[in-house]
Amino acid sequence: MKNNILVIGGTGKTGRRVAENLEQLGHNVRVVGRKTNPVFDWENPDTYDDALKNIDRAYIVYAPDLAVPGARDAITALTKKALKAGLEKVVLLSGKGETEAEACEDIVANSGLNYTLVRASWFNQNFSEGAFLEFVLNGTVALPMADAEIPFVDVNDIADVVSKVLVNDAYNGQTITITGPEKRTFKQVVEMMAEATNKQIQFVPISIDEFKDGMRKAGLPDSYIWLFDYLFQEVLGNPDNQEVSDDIVKVLGRPAKDFESFARETAAKGVWNQNNN
Ligand SMILES: NC(=O)c1ccc[n+]([C@@H]2O[C@H](COP(=O)([O-])OP(=O)(O)OC[C@H]3O[C@@H](n4cnc5c(N)ncnc54)[C@H](OP(=O)(O)O)[C@@H]3O)[C@@H](O)[C@H]2O)c1
Repeated sequence: MKNNILVIGGTGKTGRRVAENLEQLGHNVRVVGRKTNPVFDWENPDTYDDALKNIDRAYIVYAPDLAVPGARDAITALTKKALKAGLEKVVLLSGKGETEAEACEDIVANSGLNYTLVRASWFNQNFSEGAFLEFVLNGTVALPMADAEIPFVDVNDIADVVSKVLVNDAYNGQTITITGPEKRTFKQVVEMMAEATNKQIQFVPISIDEFKDGMRKAGLPDSYIWLFDYLFQEVLGNPDNQEVSDDIVKVLGRPAKDFESFARETAAKGVWNQNNN
């Protein structure tokens, strides 16, 4: 059955891919964010109504992160409006190991809507489309938590899982944990990107305080610095958060993409060719 599907954050890393998948399947997709028509701004609940009009199902990406103050109120307001607007189901993108995000998961689970929760580990694409791209282009990836072993996941896998569970009611009420197929340290993934690009890219282990000082000097806002501090300490600081899950295999019937393949494919597209030095 074809659905009218809302993709909140539909111009971002996962949303863009989910929208493409669903369009290919023949669904009617409405992508929203702060620059779309209709405008959807998490900070202004008055903008939620137009986005939800005549929609059957929605993929919810909260930006910047479900851990930030304000996320719970926004998710509460959205789910109330979604229920009132008659939506059948929502899928929430959440972060694996984020206690704060779990409060938002509970809001969705208790909203009265059908739902699936998708808990993802850190994305491969943080290095190609996100916060760490610039470090790779500069040839020096200086990050804290050098010992953390992280089951980096590919956003294409997230999008494939989301696209499937959003239109399939067999996954209603479930929490799907999606990780890559193995755990990697920052040093290991930097070595893979260096090898794939045939460029000098070095990993420099630094403390969280040094990382935060760097962000302050770069003029980044306190809220952003707080968020990275939280993500490094809460998410990467707890090894229990970093187990590999086989939910991608269970949902998609194929293995998750490993970081080495991601690095090779991304290098081949020329994403890391630009030199910032
Ligand atoms: N990166 C990771 O490793 C990781 C791991 C686990 C979970 N997550 C979760 O993934 C989510 C981010 O997903 P993503 O990476 O797919 O998105 P993204 O690439 O960060 O893009 C954010 C999207 O949200 C929109 N947006 C930003 N601020 C907005 C606002 N105030 N109101 C409405 N829309 C807004 C952006 O469009 P406009 O700017 O045009 O509005 C864009 O479409 C976060 O909730 C994060 O917690 C990330």
